[in-house]
Amino acid sequence: MIVERADARAIALAAELLREGKLVAFPTETVYGLGADARNDDAVRHIFAAKGRPADHPVIVHVLDLAEAERWVSDMPDDARKLARAFWPGPLTLILPRAHDVSDVVTGGQSSVGLRAPSHPVARALLAAFRGGIAAPSANRFGHVSATTAGHVVDDLGDGVDLVLDAGASDVGIESTIVAFTTPSPMLLRPGAIGGDALAAVLGRSVGARETDAPRASGSLASHYAPRTPASLVASDALVAQLAQLDDRDERVAVLAWRTRPPQGFDGVWIEAPDDAAAYAHALYANLRALDAAKADSILIERVRDDAEWNAIADRLARATSGEPPDDRD
Ligand code: TXA
Ligand code: MG
Repeated sequence: MIVERADARAIALAAELLREGKLVAFPTETVYGLGADARNDDAVRHIFAAKGRPADHPVIVHVLDLAEAERWVSDMPDDARKLARAFWPGPLTLILPRAHDVSDVVTGGQSSVGLRAPSHPVARALLAAFRGGIAAPSANRFGHVSATTAGHVVDDLGDGVDLVLDAGASDVGIESTIVAFTTPSPMLLRPGAIGGDALAAVLGRSVGARETDAPRASGSLASHYAPRTPASLVASDALVAQLAQLDDRDERVAVLAWRTRPPQGFDGVWIEAPDDAAAYAHALYANLRALDAAKADSILIERVRDDAEWNAIADRLARATSGEPPDDRD
């Protein structure tokens, strides 16, 4: 594996490697993606092997713009087009009926395909140089939190990837909002930086929450974003009492707080997250990785605000603390 600062030369090399069927990890504004030529089945299969992810899970195809997206779908509903015009390039993925020539390897055998035009300048430069769709899930190992730096990619995937383009930390820090157009009215499959209110403002109606028979989104498995150390969510007013209990049992604890300060004499790992939703999201996965690396007996995460701005973060925290067994993780 090579890690290269994402300058023009490295981006040209990355496009060349993609054409050869190799895997390239690249920055997007949400998280790093593990990319392959979306028209090359063998290359896309390598993504699953590198991540340790089951082969029947669909991957998002990254495109430069709406015109390129149209090549991958059999139908582009007006509402989907409206969302793409409003939010692309940006952290929004649209699930749409696939064109007949889109491979089952990309769609996980489903009749739909996920499409996203990322806004990160390096992702856009790579798409422009490659001149095609890039299939890319988040560049983390299956069951682990997404990678938001090149270092996270290296830690998770090692030699499974041929080149990592390094452009520092991803801005948004959590995965894109996903809206599916596979049912009569659009459905929110994964909350993200683009909130329900923003989607509704463009569509003139609200987007429904996901139904249980919704198409498979591996991110919707309960414990998809889990750290390895047992983690739980704790209300602010219960945090200090819980710490005292764990201390009585001599348990080592790592804490992600945003409002509460460490009590006197606390000697575990204490991470103080920002008191602002965008900044909290930006740092979230690096923080979860740091909590995990502390190798404590348990992780306590202070509950965040319960409002629209914090909704996508609350979703990721709920998954990180769901306590499902690892073989359920994606
Ligand atoms: O922000 C993001 O979306 C990042 C960056 C790299 O673009 N990508 C990402 O990909 O999070 P991934 O594969 O880790 O998560 C995408 C989710 C998965 O849960 C996948 O199952 C779902 O989208 N998905 C993809 N295509 C789908 C389809 N046709 N139908 C239903 N779900 C789909
Ligand atoms: Mg993922």
